[in-house]
Amino acid sequence: MRIFNKEIINKEGQEVELMGWVATRRDHGKIIFIDLRDKSGISQLVFTLENKEIYKTADKLRSEWVIRVKGEVKKRPKGMENPELETGQYEIAVNFLEILAESKTPPFDVSTDGYKVNEEIRMKYRYLDLRRPRLQKNLKLRAKFIKFIRDFLTEKGFVEIETPIITKSTPEGARDFIVPSRLQPGKFYALPQSPQQYKQLLMVSGFEKYFQIAKCFRDEDSRANRAYGEFTQLDLEMSFVEQNDILELTERLFTELIMQIFPEKKITQIPWPKINYHETIEKYGNDTPDIRKNKDDKNELGFAWVINFPLFTKQTEKDFFYGSGKSKWAPSHHMFTAPYPDDIKLLDTDPGKVRGLQHDMVLNGVEVGGGSIRIHDPKIQEKVFELIGFTKEQKGRFEHMLEAFNYGVPPHAGIALGLDRLIAILQNEPNIREIIAFPKTGDGRDLMMQAPSEVDKQQLDELGIKIKAKNSHINKAQPRS
Ligand code: AMO
Repeated sequence: MRIFNKEIINKEGQEVELMGWVATRRDHGKIIFIDLRDKSGISQLVFTLENKEIYKTADKLRSEWVIRVKGEVKKRPKGMENPELETGQYEIAVNFLEILAESKTPPFDVSTDGYKVNEEIRMKYRYLDLRRPRLQKNLKLRAKFIKFIRDFLTEKGFVEIETPIITKSTPEGARDFIVPSRLQPGKFYALPQSPQQYKQLLMVSGFEKYFQIAKCFRDEDSRANRAYGEFTQLDLEMSFVEQNDILELTERLFTELIMQIFPEKKITQIPWPKINYHETIEKYGNDTPDIRKNKDDKNELGFAWVINFPLFTKQTEKDFFYGSGKSKWAPSHHMFTAPYPDDIKLLDTDPGKVRGLQHDMVLNGVEVGGGSIRIHDPKIQEKVFELIGFTKEQKGRFEHMLEAFNYGVPPHAGIALGLDRLIAILQNEPNIREIIAFPKTGDGRDLMMQAPSEVDKQQLDELGIKIKAKNSHINKAQPRS
């Protein structure tokens, strides 16, 4: 029966069977060493002239060939141990070798960290790139991270609910991806920029505690901490809570997660400081304060909350969704954020002074999450729609929310955390693409699948779509960050 490489350390003197990839091959004339890689790590295989047939086959092996071997686990001779390998005290004296698959010469070496390899080539051959121990570690850690969140929230009475991907526009300040409908010609679905409206509607349904590891889709320019196309949020929402309940829950979740999964990390300040928007602008010059004591320390985590944001910012042409500068105000976060109760009267007289019940979560100077207490009074929601310059038609798109709020809506609040961003920071990765299995390039292409791609004329005909001249109409206006 096949065992994993890392298990050989308990099998000295025993006959074992291993399978995996040839990582390296060192030929010393009378002896060939192969480093065999599997998902658990590396072990050293030894081939000698004692068994000529097997030695001859071993001589043909090249990087990334897939093999199956049997042999005896032996302690390495004194002085030949490799302290850098978990299995470095042992080696396998091979007495059986089978080639399961050959490999072309890979376009790059997968044993390095890969940072210096051309990114286009890495992305084209992402399935090989993912063989790197660094990327294997990142994705395994990501799985552990998500499992911790699931267990923690489920134990606290949250229900994990999936919401649709093919849906209607949920504006979060970026452009939508739209999907043409075949059954309703001329109409379109949109991929959700977040599950915002669905999670609020689930509160109307009475679930009270919802979460989802949610894919969000946004057509916006990519940056080091912003994936093009899609990214993953931990999205959550609760009913009958105050802002502090959301902050405390999130803080406990991540503090415990870090203690368990990243014990080497130190959190700068517990409880995490709550910083007023105006205070951070004054003191740090931005709304993502980096509170770390030592910014060179890879293991310091400066978590902070930013609260008391103004409900509105001045609208610019970047706010294309809200009226492209035609109205004076755009939502500081999104249009469902509740104003401070004391400031509601200012909505009519001085909207710029209204404070919003928004909370942003910041880690090491990067915004890793955001949320708010929601508006649950349809009249206030309508007022906000008016202030951000919604036309009657735009307001109509949210009719379902206003209607739902007429049927006993509980006060509710929530937050969403950017999981890719969070994990990238925790793993000290400079770009979030390093912790996403199959990311798009900065200009929105999947070089491995060659997406986006043209589709058959027949598919277009079925959808009633005709392509105008290519690239003639790309709108360069950038979304809000
Ligand atoms: P928001 O738009 O602030 O809020 O998103 C929440 C968090 O998601 C992460 N994020 C991204 N991560 C990677 N790539 C991107 N392109 C990207 N865009 C956003 C950020 C951000 O803080 N519905 C609301 C949440 C709520 O109100 O509950 C929302 O989506 O870390």
